[in-house]
Amino acid sequence: MIRAIVRKGIDGYGHAIIGFRDGWRGVLDNEYEELTIESTRGILHRGGTILGTSRTNPFKQDEGPRRARETMRSLNLDGLIAIGGEDTLGAANRLHEDGAPVLGVPKTIDNDLNGTDVTFGFDTALQVATEAIDRLHTTAESHHRILVVEVMGREAGWIALYSGVAGGADVILVPERPFDVEEVCGLLRRRKSRGRSFSIVVVAEGASAKEGQIVEAADELDEYGHPRLGGIGHWLESEIESRTGFETRATVLGHVQRGGTPTASDRVLATRLGLAAIDAADDGRWGMMPALRGTRIELVSLAEAVAGLRTVPLEDYEAFGALFG
Ligand code: F6P
Repeated sequence: MIRAIVRKGIDGYGHAIIGFRDGWRGVLDNEYEELTIESTRGILHRGGTILGTSRTNPFKQDEGPRRARETMRSLNLDGLIAIGGEDTLGAANRLHEDGAPVLGVPKTIDNDLNGTDVTFGFDTALQVATEAIDRLHTTAESHHRILVVEVMGREAGWIALYSGVAGGADVILVPERPFDVEEVCGLLRRRKSRGRSFSIVVVAEGASAKEGQIVEAADELDEYGHPRLGGIGHWLESEIESRTGFETRATVLGHVQRGGTPTASDRVLATRLGLAAIDAADDGRWGMMPALRGTRIELVSLAEAVAGLRTVPLEDYEAFGALFG
């Protein structure tokens, strides 16, 4: 994405481009580097971001919005392109509403942004999770165990549902539908009674039991008010083992889903979004976000993108239920 913005921005439009370090933190602290065609060569196959990132929320920092506007004014910027998910783009939208020339681009592995069919990063996380499930399958089978795989995604079950379906999981649990642990055990028992000595359960970190609550890995909230999720996999491990007597192990995939080489599909999507973002910036379309709609990239408003989370529709989840157990 950065490479596409820089190449077209400089060669196509004659702009100079700078990149702020660590997201909004760099904007508030006026910490940046010039981005050139030379400095952004060879980054296409790298995951993460060469600029770094942070959980800084300009609206939770002392004088944050004023400092952001001041940085933009002092550097004589025509505009700012914010790359991120609901939090980064939520702040971008508020700054835009305050009069700052800001655009957004959708990037999160959670795939939970409104206004776009897919966010970039999702396909790579899905690929990593699916590969992990494939690997866990063989060891589950050899050892005759239940393997519980906990994946990321916050309040959205996209990574869990798609990796679970792609990896042939026997049970998939998503935040959108609180589960009944006895029902889960029933599916595992039924599978056993049909002669299968192992099972794979994929659980989203934000999933919760009907009677329980979301399991959090730490007490403190980040600057956007999010808890750190994690732990439901180990909770399920002990519940399943004690209720069924089947030997069970949990694996938490964690940040491995967010790193490494992006898939070809993510690279192409990021490039298309980057090209559309610099076109929109050159055209002064502030307050907008390029989005994938069907097979086309279209501009949608940032306000629409952050209006609510795009979670898994229940009917989509339930349609896959025929594959469980
Ligand atoms: O939003 C992306 C995401 O990877 C979530 O899926 C996950 O809950 C969270 O970020 C993890 O955040 P951190 O890197 O702060 O642990």
